[in-house]
Amino acid sequence: MYINFWYVACQASDLTYGAQRPIKVTMLGQQFALWRDSKGEIRCVSNTCSHRSGALADGRIRGDCVECPYHGWTFNGDGSCVRLPSLGPDAKIPNRTRIDAYPVDERYGLVFVFLGDLPESERPPIQPAPECDDPDWRFITLTMDWNIDYKRSVENTIDPAHNEFTHPTHGFLGVKEDYEVEDITLEDTDWGTGFMNPMKSPPLVQRDMREESGREGDGVTYAGSGSHGPNVTWTYIHISDKAWFHGFAFHTPVSAKLDRIFVLFGRNFMQDTKYDKTFEDRGLFIAEQDRYVLEPMNPPMTPINSKNEFLVPADKAIARYREFCQDWEDKGWRIDVNKVCADQDTVSYAIPSPARREAKGWVLPEVPRLAGKAGDSTE
Ligand code: FES
Ligand SMILES: [Fe+2]
Repeated sequence: MYINFWYVACQASDLTYGAQRPIKVTMLGQQFALWRDSKGEIRCVSNTCSHRSGALADGRIRGDCVECPYHGWTFNGDGSCVRLPSLGPDAKIPNRTRIDAYPVDERYGLVFVFLGDLPESERPPIQPAPECDDPDWRFITLTMDWNIDYKRSVENTIDPAHNEFTHPTHGFLGVKEDYEVEDITLEDTDWGTGFMNPMKSPPLVQRDMREESGREGDGVTYAGSGSHGPNVTWTYIHISDKAWFHGFAFHTPVSAKLDRIFVLFGRNFMQDTKYDKTFEDRGLFIAEQDRYVLEPMNPPMTPINSKNEFLVPADKAIARYREFCQDWEDKGWRIDVNKVCADQDTVSYAIPSPARREAKGWVLPEVPRLAGKAGDSTE
C-alpha cells in the first residue's frame, strides 16, 4: 500500500448534508472520519483523537466540526482543535493537539481523498474520466469488497490473456486452434501504462446489443486497459466502431488483503436507464468470474520479487506496473505493513497529511514506510 495517491473513501451520496454523525472509513489500514460541513464541503480527518485516542467518527458533527465522544474535544475540517472543554472557555489550545486532515475532491459521484503529504503541485492527478460528465454516456456505479491484495486485482485488469479462460462469455475457452494473444504495445503515462488490442470475440448474446452496435456473428472487439497510480485501472471495450464501453475501477485497500472496489461502468449506446439493471447484472457476473480466480491465489500478495513468477510477453503490462510500484517504493511511499500489523494493538499511526510538511509536533506517529532509495523514508 502506498501513500501519496488519491483513494475513494465512499460514494458522495453516503455523506448527507445535515447528518448528525460522521462516517468511519478504513483506508490503507488506517481509520478516517468524514462529514459534510455547513457549506456542503466534505472534510476528512484521521479518526484518532489526539487526546486519549477516542474514535472521532463515533462523535457528533457540531457545525463545521467533529466532536470527540469521549471528552468533547472538537476539531475543525483542517484538523485543528477548536474546543478543549476540560481547560475551560478561555484556555489557549496547544498546537500539538491538531490531527491530520486530508484534501478531498468530490468527483464522478465519488469521494476522493488524497492520502499523503505531497504539496498540491506534486500530487498525481485523479484518473481523468470525462465521459462520466458527458450526456452521450450513461454510467452506473458498482461496489464490491474482495478478500485480496488490490494489486492482484489491478494486474488482472491489465492482463489481456485472462479473458479467454476466466471469462467464457468473452472468449472461447482456448478451443480455437489459432488462439494466441497479439503482441501488445504499451503506452505509458506519467502514472501508469496501458494498451489497446484487437480480440476475436464470440457473437453478442443480447439482441438489443447486436442491433444497437451493428455487430452480428463472431467479431473483433478492440479492447484495452491500463493502470493509473497503484490503485486505478481503466478499461475500454469497443464492440463495434460506434458501441463502446468505458469502465474505471478505483481500488481502495481497506487493508493489505481487503480490496474495496468502486467501479464506474459506462456505455455510449443503450443509454436508456431501463438497461441499467442489465449492465449491473452483467458487470457483477463478470467481476465474479475474476474474483473466483483471484481470491484463491497463493501467495495472496503480489510477490516481492517478480522472479518468483514466470512472466510471458502477454504479462508485459503487469511487469511495467510492477516497475511503477517499485519507483513509488523507492520514493519512500510504500507502507511497511508488517510493522503496522506488529504494532496494531499499541500504536495508532497516521497517514502523513500535507500539513506535516509545514509544521512539526504531532501526537500520532507517521505510518512507517519501507526505506526508499531516495532515503526519505520516515520512522
Ligand atoms: S479522547 Fe477525544 S476528547 Fe478525550
Ligand atoms: Fe477479468
